[in-house]
Amino acid sequence: MATKLLCFLLASVLIAYYVYRPLPENIEEGWKVMILDTVLRSVGHMAGVAELLGLNQYMEVMMLLTAFEHTAPISDENVTVTDTAFNNVPVRLYVPTKPSKKLRRAVIYIHGGGWCLGSPAMKAYDHLTRWTADRLNAIVVSTDYRLAPKYNFPAQFEDAYAVAKYFLQKEVLTEYGVDPNRICVAGDSAGGNLAAAVTQQLQDDIEVEVRPKIQALIYPALQPLDLDTPSYRDNSHMPILSKSLMVRFWSEYFTVDKALFNAMSSNTHKLIESNHLLRFINWTDLLPEKMKKIHTYSNIQSGTSEFTKKYPGILDPRAAPLLVDDAKLSRLPQTYILTCMYDVLRDDGVMYAQRLKKAGVQVTHDHYDTFHGVLLFVSSPANLSIAHKMRNEYINWLNEKL
Ligand SMILES: *[C@@H]1O[C@H](CO)[C@@H](O)[C@H](O)[C@H]1NC(C)=O
Ligand SMILES: *[C@@H]1O[C@H](CO)[C@@H](O)[C@H](O)[C@H]1NC(C)=O
Ligand SMILES: *[C@@H]1O[C@H](CO)[C@@H](O)[C@H](O)[C@H]1NC(C)=O
Repeated sequence: MATKLLCFLLASVLIAYYVYRPLPENIEEGWKVMILDTVLRSVGHMAGVAELLGLNQYMEVMMLLTAFEHTAPISDENVTVTDTAFNNVPVRLYVPTKPSKKLRRAVIYIHGGGWCLGSPAMKAYDHLTRWTADRLNAIVVSTDYRLAPKYNFPAQFEDAYAVAKYFLQKEVLTEYGVDPNRICVAGDSAGGNLAAAVTQQLQDDIEVEVRPKIQALIYPALQPLDLDTPSYRDNSHMPILSKSLMVRFWSEYFTVDKALFNAMSSNTHKLIESNHLLRFINWTDLLPEKMKKIHTYSNIQSGTSEFTKKYPGILDPRAAPLLVDDAKLSRLPQTYILTCMYDVLRDDGVMYAQRLKKAGVQVTHDHYDTFHGVLLFVSSPANLSIAHKMRNEYINWLNEKL
């Protein structure tokens, strides 16, 4: 009996130790975040062990989360949902059921998951895109794309771009009853990266007849060149997205070669030849004091690394939308950017907002004291009140500007 009790106590202590992590003071509903994070971390640990034992690749195990969350395209009283393909890329389409006399607005939505995970059919995305269609009385095209590590950059970009280009043809917009002057490209996390890249490339593509009116970037990843910005330093062990997971996502976007992961982890993956791009991500210049804190900028050149030569995608604006000059930025449409304080990607979003403003683009920048990925947590068991707030601000902006 005593042994059982002792085992029980010991197990409880171990579980509590595993679940508990000190969170910043101003976090609401911290215990919910801890539980969510424990689930994600456990899957991450399983993935790590499976990879170590040579059973599966890390991301194959992580994909279980995507599979677990899969839902069929089910229409409801307000929105008709179908799975189809644009330019041979799978998309999930949300069309409001009620007939509309006027042409409708449209949102091209690109899901997150570090270019390695996720799909429009995941419950959380299905919920968000369906709700967007319903709230805005808009067509939502939720884009799928090939995933890493099986497919590397630029496959993900190319799929997202192919969908946008297909949809932005005048006859296609007419078919769906969409107003060509009221289209948004939006995405979160890696999807925010793809949304920013797609919007940039559309600006300069002479084959494109119709361009988006606005773009919305939710905690986007925007550059892999400096993975040691203050937000990477301060938030490397925050819930949902740790630095090591983000570095894994970035490196696997380009290659399965672990050497890139190791170099990116120590931020030594650059060549001197890329130094002219550092001014585009110069955080001493672009971040407010409360984010820079006491961090000092160490010059991040490394003369030995071959990676930017081997994987030129690292410097390619289609993977790194922050690495373009102001002239290119100035041609971009009105932009919404959402960033989170305790997110390794915070500085990417803050720097993009700052650079866009300086280039004369109208920017709405919402910033929240929370973690990466939280916008999706709007239904039980992962129901956070800050997620509802974020989602409402986002949809209000869309409703007003689109
Ligand atoms: C459909 O729209 C009505 C009116 O806005 C709303 O009350 C209802 O909850 C919606 N149904 C679904 C399934 O979202
Ligand atoms: C970054 O900005 C600071 C302050 O404006 C400047 O002193 C420094 O030379 C810049 N560094 C790069 C790499 O552009
Ligand atoms: C989630 O929380 C919000 C308020 O934070 C509440 O209005 C809503 O009913 C909750 N939804 C579920 C499914 O628990």
